Amino acid sequence: MTNPALDFLRFVEGASPRLSMSRLLDRILQKSRMLSHAEAGTIFTLRKRGARAWLEPMHIQNDVVRVKLANFIVPVGPGTIAGYVAHSGKTVMLSDVYKISSGRAYSFNPDNEHPDYKTRSMFCFPLKSYTDRVIGVVQLINARRRGTRTPVPFDTSIRQLVVAISPVISRLIERNDMLEQLRKKNQRIATLQTQTEQAFQLSLSLLSRAAEIHDEETGNHVYRVGEYSHHLGRLTGRSVAWCNILRYSAQLHDVGKMSIDASVLKKRGRLDPAERAEMDQHTTYGYQILTGTPRLEMAAEVALNHHEKWDGTGYPNGLKDEAIPLSARIVSLADVYDALRSERPYKPAFSHRKAVQILTRGDERIDPAGHFDPQLLQLFSAHNREFNAIWKGLAD
Ligand SMILES: [Fe+2]
Ligand SMILES: [Fe+2]
Repeated sequence: MTNPALDFLRFVEGASPRLSMSRLLDRILQKSRMLSHAEAGTIFTLRKRGARAWLEPMHIQNDVVRVKLANFIVPVGPGTIAGYVAHSGKTVMLSDVYKISSGRAYSFNPDNEHPDYKTRSMFCFPLKSYTDRVIGVVQLINARRRGTRTPVPFDTSIRQLVVAISPVISRLIERNDMLEQLRKKNQRIATLQTQTEQAFQLSLSLLSRAAEIHDEETGNHVYRVGEYSHHLGRLTGRSVAWCNILRYSAQLHDVGKMSIDASVLKKRGRLDPAERAEMDQHTTYGYQILTGTPRLEMAAEVALNHHEKWDGTGYPNGLKDEAIPLSARIVSLADVYDALRSERPYKPAFSHRKAVQILTRGDERIDPAGHFDPQLLQLFSAHNREFNAIWKGLAD
């Protein structure tokens, strides 16, 4: 024996388990009409505001005349047939709507008929949730026998079927409504998330720019260091996600300079040992500013370690080779390349060629083997042209 509710469900959801609301209602009405041989039908949903309740037509079908979903509402309560069904929770079956006895709580209003259509038999049943709450009404119109155009009364056996399928239909509609609401909510959350992300990135950019206000490294330096680092990160084979974090973390490498006394930061000429020691503190200051926030973990790591050197002669902790986090090793190389390309009080701006030469062979200030991760140096030298392109793209 077939289970009518299951059969109904299979038909409605057969095409896809994730139908849009209008497609779902279309399938429900189609199947209800097939089972009852109705030539037309409407699905209403029940809306409520405070004590007021009304029905809104959600879907309409008619095999005889062209119909459009009209913009009308039906008050819930005695008066109309659908309103009565929603109010009482009972089904109504009529063999001729024009012959409703006057003692009934409902009547048929011929003014609402389509000019080329005449309603005769009607079967109207409530859609109830499992908790027996009415959520809508299905109105089926004009049952007809196969091959004839004359409407006949609805078969009374359809009532049993309705008892079985009404909760299924209600559940489908309720679930679909919930899914649609959830989808809308998720869209709103996604929008908010994008906005928050943009605000986050902007704050970081502003922070990194604020840090360089008294510094020799100005203009687009921090953005270029972000881009070189991102690029170098990709060359090491790290994931796009990791490299995206590295990009903004790199921008913040000197954020600790905000905490350095301006007299030291702006001093022209050589720093004395005490001033030098204070200046070197920008690494730990940066770490202190950035630490404690999960999304800035890498930024804190970079700020702390970007002056460490491969041979252990860097600061603040004298870390050696792989004890220095990869992020900081990358930023250190990127930072020095950009410093070489830029004009500084103590040096002119070098060409790309000269910068590559110094980074690979060294000069009086830079000892590549002692300062940088040899693997990163190799990647840099093999792909050095891309660094020049970044420089040019973000030139001051
Ligand atoms: Fe620095
Ligand atoms: Fe820098």
